[in-house]
Amino acid sequence: MPSILDRTFRRVAALPPSLDRAERHSLADQFLAIDNVPIMSPPNGRFWFQTMPLRDGTRIRGASGDPNREQRLWTACFGTDRDCLAGKRVLDVGANDGFFSIAAALCGADEVHAVNPATLAHGTFPANLRFAADEWDANIRITVDDFQNLPERAEYDVILLYGVLNHLENPVAGMRAVERLLAPGGRVYLETQVSNSGGNQPVFELASDVYATTVPQYRAMIDVPGNSTIFVPNELGVRALGVTFGLTVDGLTGGNAYEAAFGGPGRRRVFVLSRASDRPLAPKG
Ligand SMILES: C[S@@+](CC[C@H](N)C(=O)[O-])C[C@H]1O[C@@H](n2cnc3c(N)ncnc32)[C@H](O)[C@@H]1O
Repeated sequence: MPSILDRTFRRVAALPPSLDRAERHSLADQFLAIDNVPIMSPPNGRFWFQTMPLRDGTRIRGASGDPNREQRLWTACFGTDRDCLAGKRVLDVGANDGFFSIAAALCGADEVHAVNPATLAHGTFPANLRFAADEWDANIRITVDDFQNLPERAEYDVILLYGVLNHLENPVAGMRAVERLLAPGGRVYLETQVSNSGGNQPVFELASDVYATTVPQYRAMIDVPGNSTIFVPNELGVRALGVTFGLTVDGLTGGNAYEAAFGGPGRRRVFVLSRASDRPLAPKG
């Protein structure tokens, strides 16, 4: 585990110290508004997965047909409190173009760490994230790797795990890594595709392009880790996985901004996994 000195030297404020609280709130309001703004082609000529707001009030076109998909997900998890992450150390797993890393910085996080392997289709990580972080003056620590290779223990108060679980070849090993990285009292915000299968049993459905599974596997990408869909959990599957590692699992309250648009049977769900503040750390190994 890093010493306090290690952490002091490594820690970099997520936003410039000259930015006062009112200015930060105003930037966060602009970035996170669910709004109808002009959508532009990418200024850096690359593919963008996330629809990315720019300071001039336009957005870079992303892959979702809903230009507010990212804002809806953020609002569903954190509401409109622009201090919701004040003082928190945040890990954005599968950060991709960096929308949620920048949102965390604008909502007061002390430190934001974005991790994603270089195997992302289109090869846009971390170039797009750097482009967007510069735009918003956000200081994001970047690691180009599988998050399961991060060495830290109990380092993060908040872990964003959006759209990653169903790409893992071993979701149990993935949740073990999440639990190792999560500080006592910390929370994981987990967004995932859910399966139609299983009824009242916890199920991880193996996605396939051959059999009629809830979503396709995209087998053509199977040798590019993190891109094919592998295991698709049903709701109880997510709950059972969290409980396996001593985490408390809650769904979001109904009618939230994200699940109203993307939820429903066989679609997307968001869960909050919490680690008790008195839960002992897992043994080193
Ligand atoms: C569907 S995208 C979601 C991107 C972003 N989190 C969002 O919700 O907009 C899945 C992302 O997870 C990344 N990913 C997949 N496996 C990963 C792993 N083991 N470690 C870190 N990132 C991973 C992919 O490269 C990709 O950027």
